[in-house]
Amino acid sequence: MPQDVAAVVLAAGKGTRFRSDLAKVLHRAAGRTLVRHVLEALRPLDLGQAVVVVGHQADDVAEEVSHAGLRHLTTALQTEQRGTGHAVQAAMPALAEHIRRVLIVPGDTPLLTGATLGQLLEVAVDGDNTDADGVAADAPGGALLTADLADPRGYGRVVHDERGRAVAVVEERDATDEQRELSVINSGMYLVDRALLGEALAGLDDDNAQGEVYLTDIVASLADVGRALTPVLAPESEIAGVNDRRQLADAAAVLRGRHLDHLLIDVGVSIPDPAAVWLDVDVEVGREAVLLPGTVLEAGTRIGEGAVIGPNTHLTRCAVGPGASVHSTRAQDAVIGERCTVGPFSNLRAGTVLERSVKVGAYVETKNAAVGEGSKLPHLSYVGDATIGTGVNVACGVITVNYDGRTKSHTTIDDGAFIGCDTMLVAPVTIGHGAYTAAGSTITEDLPAGALGIARSRQTTKEGWAERRHAERDERPAGR
Ligand code: UD1
Ligand code: CA
Repeated sequence: MPQDVAAVVLAAGKGTRFRSDLAKVLHRAAGRTLVRHVLEALRPLDLGQAVVVVGHQADDVAEEVSHAGLRHLTTALQTEQRGTGHAVQAAMPALAEHIRRVLIVPGDTPLLTGATLGQLLEVAVDGDNTDADGVAADAPGGALLTADLADPRGYGRVVHDERGRAVAVVEERDATDEQRELSVINSGMYLVDRALLGEALAGLDDDNAQGEVYLTDIVASLADVGRALTPVLAPESEIAGVNDRRQLADAAAVLRGRHLDHLLIDVGVSIPDPAAVWLDVDVEVGREAVLLPGTVLEAGTRIGEGAVIGPNTHLTRCAVGPGASVHSTRAQDAVIGERCTVGPFSNLRAGTVLERSVKVGAYVETKNAAVGEGSKLPHLSYVGDATIGTGVNVACGVITVNYDGRTKSHTTIDDGAFIGCDTMLVAPVTIGHGAYTAAGSTITEDLPAGALGIARSRQTTKEGWAERRHAERDERPAGR
């Protein structure tokens, strides 16, 4: 429907107030970069084009936006960052021919939703100033998203005329004391007729407190030509611009809160203390799952139905199957199968894949390890670069000795094997189907199926030794 509308996203600024080496729009809130949050808000609108203006760290920002998978997305380069108006000027040549209206959005407003932006598209826009087809001479040239804030500090203030149209935006640093009292602020989101926008941009200068080319000045120039913007009031919770790390933290808290509400209300996840759970916006959780306090679920994580996560569990890019339980555990890039029990105090590193009903217990670290159905690693083990079959029992204190200081080698344990306590498996090594290793063995050679491997020194027993020792002591004179 809005195929004649292009979004222009302003993402070229440095973000000086962040005091960061990283461009502001690449900072993350709830696991997603600021600029990607804005692109996600645009997605449901299905516009005809999106142009992201890049400048500071342009290549990195362009790379990041390319991952959004948004249709008809291009970038435009603003070589010098001379202000928001200058940024939109840089975007204009990139607009496709069929574009009639331009939706301008800052790249630092992560709380925005498509529904709110969509309200701007509802406003009738008429750029035709000739009156030939009976258009009123003062038809709106577009719309401006505003909000009425209890604390408007930091934002441009909107000046309205007696008919309620937006006739100017005054930046805080340029405002008079009286203008600073105005509580309706400019969200920085505008929908403007393309031709009128082009004309208004052509007239901009940098004669203001910051010496920048302000986009906000188009509001007055459109009013001057009888094409004042129609203000559209948005909910305060959506328009917040993120200019420093305090505001980033606040925005992230709002995003997490929204996602928690979605899981609690729409999905049916139990979260007894939502304030004690952190999750990134793209984390998926199935119904009847339970998230206990101290749970941190980072981007790319999926939790199956009925799984119990936490307390005190931190998962990054993990998949957890239905009915699994993961208690006091750190895991990243790991797959935890259906009905597995993991923890407390387990560390699953990249490449761990636990099939269904595997048990990984206290002080067990795994890395690049595939563990078959029903196998158990209950306590104090390191299993790295290993393939473990089904129904294997890895007893307490087992170590796959995978690194000789130069290369990493693989350990294979076939189905039904029993690895005795404190076994060192010096890789590369294979333990056959149903084979056993004796406790305390250092296994350096492959074990065939059904064998027992014992590799430890024989015990020597000295009978009566303790008694002889005591006797020796008693004979000695005191003090010697
Ligand atoms: C801007 C508005 C202000 C509004 C507020 C809403 C102007 C002059 N002011 O102020 O009225 O209340 O947003 O959040 O527009 N950018 C570029 N190139 C530049 C400068 C900025 O691409 O040369 C980008 C930034 O990366 C940022 C966005 O534009 O994503 C907004 O810039 P910012 O400096 O944050 O503007 P504000 O001071 O917040
Ligand atoms: Ca801003």
